[in-house]
Amino acid sequence: MHKFEKIWITLGTSSLALFLIILGISAVHGGHTPAASGIETINPEHVRDDERFKEPGLVEATSGDHDYDLYFVASAFMYEPGEVEIPVGSKVKVHVTSPDVVHGFQVVGTNINMMAEPGLISTYDMTFDEPGEHLILCNEYCGVGHADMTSKLKIVDGGTTND
Ligand code: CUA
Repeated sequence: MHKFEKIWITLGTSSLALFLIILGISAVHGGHTPAASGIETINPEHVRDDERFKEPGLVEATSGDHDYDLYFVASAFMYEPGEVEIPVGSKVKVHVTSPDVVHGFQVVGTNINMMAEPGLISTYDMTFDEPGEHLILCNEYCGVGHADMTSKLKIVDGGTTND
């Protein structure tokens, strides 16, 4: 009985050790981070120094198969830009990040529902086929001003402006 117990403990300990070694090796070699693959990282303390987020808003795409890139900074307790006009029918890649805490980024009436996390840039590809307005809401509790965090997408005919 004593002998079997010893074997059992050895087996348990060594399988745990083996598991940790495999985990450690794969973490280092794969460069794994808590972020899902394909998600870009950004230093949350230097979001404002990043060209893309200096004056966030709609810009014509210079690469990829989309028409526009739409950059948003979600911070306590506002979104920048506070309102965006998007030409109807455009294919837009939305990029969102946060310089402070985790915020939500839900575009009402669309499938866009992301988290804006400090250190990460969340993206979503969306084609806006119907003219109209979409409210943007924060759906992650982020503090006293949580309920006041809103922005708006206006899907319009013709040209664009950025606020
Ligand atoms: Cu930002 Cu809730």
